[in-house]
Amino acid sequence: MKETQQMYEGKAKKVFATEDEKYVIVNYKDDATAFNGKKKGTIASKGVINNRMSNYLFQMLEKNGVETHFVEELDERRTVVKKVEIVPVEVIVRNIAAGGICKRLGLTEGMKLCAPVVEYCYKSDELDDPMINDDHIKVMDLATEEEMKTIREMTLKINGLLQERLLKADLILVDFKLEFGRFDGKIILADEISPDTCRLWDVHTMAKLDKDRFRRDLGDVEEAYQEVMRRLMESDNK
Ligand code: TMP
Ligand code: ASP
Repeated sequence: MKETQQMYEGKAKKVFATEDEKYVIVNYKDDATAFNGKKKGTIASKGVINNRMSNYLFQMLEKNGVETHFVEELDERRTVVKKVEIVPVEVIVRNIAAGGICKRLGLTEGMKLCAPVVEYCYKSDELDDPMINDDHIKVMDLATEEEMKTIREMTLKINGLLQERLLKADLILVDFKLEFGRFDGKIILADEISPDTCRLWDVHTMAKLDKDRFRRDLGDVEEAYQEVMRRLMESDNK
């Protein structure tokens, strides 16, 4: 499929139209931002890893009955995806306390949560993605109650599948963020699943192997992204 004009440039990806109005092409950049764009940098080859890793995990999810926007990987940075109408709600799932939940609730980083915690944030750069609940989503008309029921069910299923797959790569899925879209009247998984959007800790040492290395200036950022991809590939048939 051939790309036509650029439709949009986000913080980590560009999106191009194609000759078919049902599909778009995403192009993953090496640009990295944190704290809603206040911290900026680049992570060499990040775009290549995020593209490959996201496509790999989306195909694993599809095999397990989760519908996603994935269509076809074109090359190391570009993928054809279904053109969805994004639901402007970021869905965060937490299995272990880290980041935002520690800041907000005073929990100690690393505390195991006895059940997954699902949080919603309103996707708005101007407002800094504030946390919202089902009532806000309803009165602001961001999604229907039925859509949110589907999103929550899909989210918990995805959490289980991802935890299991990542553990085979000796990675603990601490938390992650998902985005969903509407396609042909259905809710499907969109956006990406990568070290940009997940917290991943080494199962033995608890070393951070994700974007927290960039957010917190921990060094070895590129190495961490490479390591996650290497482990996923090596555990492919485990
Ligand atoms: P948080 O602890 O900062 O709320 O982040 C929770 C998870 O969501 C973490 O894995 C990083 C991911 N995330 C994004 O992918 N995009 C974002 O804009 C934010 C705030 C978090
Ligand atoms: N992606 C967000 C930003 O660009 C936040 C983050 O990942 O920390 O600021």
